[in-house]
Amino acid sequence: MKMTVIGAGNVGATTAQRLADKQLATEVVLLDIAEGIPQGKGLDMFESMPVEASDCRILGTNSYEDTIDSGIVIITAGLARKPGMSRDDLLAANAKIVGSCAEQAVKYSPNAFYIIVSNPLDVMTFVALQKTGLPRNKVLGMAGVLDTARYRTFLSMELNVSVEDIQAFVLGGHGDTMVPLPRYTTIAGVPITELLPQDRIDAIVQRTRNGGIEIVNHLKTGSAYYAPSAAAVQMVECIVKDKRRILPCAVMLKGEYGLHDVVVGVPVKVGKNGMEDIFQITLDEHENAELVKSADDVKATMEKLASMDY
Ligand code: LAC
Repeated sequence: MKMTVIGAGNVGATTAQRLADKQLATEVVLLDIAEGIPQGKGLDMFESMPVEASDCRILGTNSYEDTIDSGIVIITAGLARKPGMSRDDLLAANAKIVGSCAEQAVKYSPNAFYIIVSNPLDVMTFVALQKTGLPRNKVLGMAGVLDTARYRTFLSMELNVSVEDIQAFVLGGHGDTMVPLPRYTTIAGVPITELLPQDRIDAIVQRTRNGGIEIVNHLKTGSAYYAPSAAAVQMVECIVKDKRRILPCAVMLKGEYGLHDVVVGVPVKVGKNGMEDIFQITLDEHENAELVKSADDVKATMEKLASMDY
């Protein structure tokens, strides 16, 4: 399958590299408005294929015409956070960028699945839904897989066990009010609530919520990209291989979890039709209140967007 990655910054370039190295795509088009950057990074990456033993073709370009007939388009374009900024501070600038990318890409790839990575993630997924006009099963936001990966990393550090044995979910918006679910987090099937004292669980949940800014504060000039690109590529793999894995993804809700007309992270079955289904798990009163609060935060940002020209 031909795939397009829009945005040749750190997230986009690393995503393109992972798609090519893993041979998930036959051809990767790396597109950016900056002249020379996608061409240079794309060619450099293409030249690594003999070493990686991958026959994926990689093309760097500034032209949407080259993206024609992509099966999956991943939008990473936009500004990244600097220290002191929240994801919502990027709203006005990134809504214009993501809106224009989605509008142009869908002209050439009307049948593609769209995976959105730009921040503020949930609202940018909404922008892409609007601008592509595609049904909600085809436009998925990447954040839950990233937040869950961070949560699992911190748990593996705490318990000194393989990351592979840690099953977890983080729901809600990709922001400070995301909702890690300790009750549904298990180590080889054993709930962590039986393995860790509450104060350690609370500390890990808090570190997960701050996972993005922790990296921003280290880097100072940008935000995370290794884990975000790995997360986006896992979603691609589930679509391409029709794996039907249950991944937390940002999707438009129409009554699921009692939420309407808001894009927020919930467990989604991801397969050849993109979002195949929304997996409804039972939340207790506290978990539900946290999810509603997180969804309300996203809605507030969506309302700000409504008064903007993008
Ligand atoms: C993060 C940014 C990319 O969580 O949202 O690292």
